[in-house]
Amino acid sequence: MLAPMEGVVDHTMRDMLTFFGGIDRCVTEFIRVTDTLLPRRTFYRLCPELMQGCKTANGTPIYLQLLGSDPQAMADNAARAAELGALGIDLNFGCPAKTVNNSDGGAALLRTPDRIYKVVQAVRQATPGHIPVTSKMRLGFNDTALALENALACNDAGSAELVVHARTKTDGYKPPAYWEQLPALKEAINIPLIANGEIWNPNDHQRCMSVSGCMDVMIGRGLVANPGLAAQIKQLRAPLQWPEIIPLLIRFQQHSVENYESRYSANRLKQWLSYLERNYLEAERLFTIIKPIKSGNDVLKVLQNHH
Ligand SMILES: Cc1cc2nc3c(=O)[nH]c(=O)nc-3n(C[C@H](O)[C@H](O)[C@H](O)COP(=O)(O)O)c2cc1C
Repeated sequence: MLAPMEGVVDHTMRDMLTFFGGIDRCVTEFIRVTDTLLPRRTFYRLCPELMQGCKTANGTPIYLQLLGSDPQAMADNAARAAELGALGIDLNFGCPAKTVNNSDGGAALLRTPDRIYKVVQAVRQATPGHIPVTSKMRLGFNDTALALENALACNDAGSAELVVHARTKTDGYKPPAYWEQLPALKEAINIPLIANGEIWNPNDHQRCMSVSGCMDVMIGRGLVANPGLAAQIKQLRAPLQWPEIIPLLIRFQQHSVENYESRYSANRLKQWLSYLERNYLEAERLFTIIKPIKSGNDVLKVLQNHH
């Protein structure tokens, strides 16, 4: 599965990363829920694919992610997402951002498993039965003491699956991910456990499966850094060569120019290149060329000539 990444994996990026195959499902960036029912346009903005059956261009299903702590508001918004055509609802219990935690969402809930239970239960009850409700959590807030209770809360309240990013909120994104913590959770719950964190190549994937005992994984940064990774893991294709990525970059930039204001669309390509640099020397060279360019259209021209 392709992990949700706020500010990185929007609908354009979902299209790009599912292009080479191997990804079974995507999750949107989180939709932040406070105490109100959000307007429909918020859902369409975060997930324009709702207008095309909630699937990417190549047919990969998408779940909508909600973040919040008020069970009633979460339930109301989940019902609205379902009514608009969401193929699944994912609940975020892992976001470490200060602004989110201060307003009591994301990883903040990991300190109180009963509140996680109430959110999952309310969302499950408000969502039609055929639409899966899934949860995504970290191992804990400051430590892992409540990992099991939190996993059980998701399980018992009716989650269909549980993704665990194998780090605490305090660990942030600092390697390693503690995959060895996952078997105990997997043993305790009776829904599929999906491992997440620090899978950058097929070798990491193998190690993660054997250490965690999980059959499925969710990958975020590793897929942005190598759009062929899922296909490679599934042995659908050989590692992507740089010339195969260029047309993707051009399409990405065309979409960005159409959908975002100029300055932002220039920065989005720079952001993607900085992930790709991890695997491709050429990305570093291209980054150096476009770094001073401020307009999205000018970036597009450079890319097309580069081609
Ligand atoms: C820039 C960024 C944005 C993220 N946004 C979200 C989000 O909106 N919802 C969520 O559940 N996780 C979010 N995450 C966490 C990822 O989904 C994932 O759990 C984490 O990056 C670890 O997986 P990885 O090592 O494969 O990237 C975000 C991570 C990053 C780096």
